[in-house]
Amino acid sequence: MKKVFVTSALPYANGSIHIGHLVEYIQTDIYCRFRRMLGDDVVYVCADDTHGTPIELNARSRGIAPEELVAYYAREHKEDFDAFDVGFDIYYSTNSDENRRYSELVFSRLKEKGHIIRKTTPLTWCPTDKRFLPDRYVKGNCPKCGAPDQYGDVCEKCDTTYAPTDLKDPYCVICRGAPEVREADHYFFRLSDFAGELSAWTAKEGSLQDEIRNYVNVWIKDGLKDWCISRNGPYFGFKIPGEDDLYFYVWLDAPIGYFASLDKLCQQTGREVEDYLHGDGSEMIHFVGKDIIYFHALFWPAMLIGAGFKAPDHLFVHGMLTVNGEKMSKSRGTFITARQYLSALDPQYLRYYYAANLSSRPDDLDLNMQDFSNRINAELVGNISNFTYRTLSFCSKQFEGTVTTPADGGPSAEFAAAASEVRNLYAGREFRKAIQRINAACAVANKYFQDSAPWALVKKDRDAAQKVISWCVAACKVLGVMLKPVLPKAAQSLERQLGLGPLAWADANFDYQNRKIAAADMLAKKVEKEQIDAMFAYVPPSTGPGAAVVRVGAAGALAQNASAESARATGEIEPPPFAAEITYDDFARLDLRVAEVLEAERVPKSKKLIRMQIDCGERRQIVAGIGEVYAPEQLVGKKIVVVANLKPAKLMGIESKGMLLASGDLVLAEFPKDAINGGKVK
Ligand code: MSP
Ligand code: ZN
Repeated sequence: MKKVFVTSALPYANGSIHIGHLVEYIQTDIYCRFRRMLGDDVVYVCADDTHGTPIELNARSRGIAPEELVAYYAREHKEDFDAFDVGFDIYYSTNSDENRRYSELVFSRLKEKGHIIRKTTPLTWCPTDKRFLPDRYVKGNCPKCGAPDQYGDVCEKCDTTYAPTDLKDPYCVICRGAPEVREADHYFFRLSDFAGELSAWTAKEGSLQDEIRNYVNVWIKDGLKDWCISRNGPYFGFKIPGEDDLYFYVWLDAPIGYFASLDKLCQQTGREVEDYLHGDGSEMIHFVGKDIIYFHALFWPAMLIGAGFKAPDHLFVHGMLTVNGEKMSKSRGTFITARQYLSALDPQYLRYYYAANLSSRPDDLDLNMQDFSNRINAELVGNISNFTYRTLSFCSKQFEGTVTTPADGGPSAEFAAAASEVRNLYAGREFRKAIQRINAACAVANKYFQDSAPWALVKKDRDAAQKVISWCVAACKVLGVMLKPVLPKAAQSLERQLGLGPLAWADANFDYQNRKIAAADMLAKKVEKEQIDAMFAYVPPSTGPGAAVVRVGAAGALAQNASAESARATGEIEPPPFAAEITYDDFARLDLRVAEVLEAERVPKSKKLIRMQIDCGERRQIVAGIGEVYAPEQLVGKKIVVVANLKPAKLMGIESKGMLLASGDLVLAEFPKDAINGGKVK
């Protein structure tokens, strides 16, 4: 058995898994499932990437320890991956003993050989926050084109790259104050020591896709710069041995986390790490997105070679997901989390759709919801599921599930050809073509069913009809094999219906006769437009652990803003997407009024509801669900805003004539005391 060590990039433990991430995990999972079906000994490992400044600051702004934040996302990520059938052999954490051990090992080996040096370097320092500021935490005017509000590493207007200390009028993203330049001692990895080895590695057959090889060779030719691999505290990461205030930079210990996960898995299952890293004929394969090529095609192989490990056998790069042709965006409502998708749609659909759009090339792929529905309904449901269901249910109904010998006239040759082509397509990561080929074979099978008309034949020649349907049942087995890497649930369902153990690639044949099948089941249901609408309308229940910490004082207000901003930069604590545009007339139909709360009391047996008597120009009763945030006595005397022309409703049997306005976390919209009761809010 060939030992195959496969990884996907480690997602940051700083936000939820979204459908962009899933391109990678689904692609890798399909590949691993396929190789396992061939009989290879595949270990598919992953972990949360837990270290770095964004995570440290995110935890701080929530008032919790980084370990708590990381534990929260570890659980969430695992659940999401399970839901999409991403079958990791282990999902570990980079904040582990194993990873500390491997990181120290790699660091010390590189240092011994002189590939790591210490030197003094100028950095931006915030005197208010008392910390050095990484690239993304300093903003200012671009030194080249002058564009305002650019990050410390690259200008988004003119694409110039520079050091944070080059910014004009820089400011600290956390406190908005002006940073200073301070010198500090840091460790640097001399990437240029490996220019020769890296060139040899990129030239090796299969190490990189052609498109990527060209890129990487240009980087090597343009000259490799020393890479700073340490960071000052406060930092969430591993302290560098013998240092007081220096930590390994997150991108040093993150890829080493692949080894830590493998090591942990080997401990758990009695395997040998060395068999996978250096065993004869073993393969080490990384799947990553286009945005992290530099780390995986230069830093990582150089670190491995320098520390005495084998460089990866294959780096497989995929493109980025767009939704409806554009980058995923929260304001357009196209930043769809795994959970949002799952709230309305079957995970199999997404696996199918991604497979149907992936090739071996690093091209971007687009999720277009119209195309998504069309393909699922026409191919997965209309062609594939339709064939297996009509076949198996007919067999059950007419022959009590008894299968004899497949009819000679069935298009077996077409299926044999398909199975062998699909095998090669999977092996070459040409999933789109594999899906096309499977559909073509299935369409031929559907036509055979239709042309043979077993429902008519059964009345004239029962045996002949049974042979036709026996051919179709055997074809379901071959389909099950071909679909299994992409649709493990559907394949499992076919295994159950056919009464077979786990299908392997060797089962892609018509060897299925004189058996009895179990009750027929549909593999997939149609996607309805309402489901897509429901997914877009989904509102997430919360934004993760801990509460945002409010710091007091003038600087505090800014600090809170800025930590929300830095959290936003890392994809956390996002406001919900905007609703569709309305006209002024739509808006004018709302009658908003200033109202004074005259009396307030809790609704018995309800934690949330408060009954209020208000004066909104007239005396009225309203009921509002703000009891977990406000005590009744806090409300009396407040001038709030109500929608006065809302149709009355009953809450727990109590009439409410109007609704008050509050923020998503239920902070009331309020007016100063001098606003007139019943005054129109414009
Ligand atoms: N933590 C680093 C990886 C460290 S690996 C040693 C990281 N994390 S990430 O959460 O930002 O991304 C994880 C993977 O998901 C990356 O390979 C990235 O390319 C991929 N994707 C993230 N967004 C994506 C899309 N919109 N489309 C396709 N893949 C995407 O980078
Ligand atoms: Zn600051």
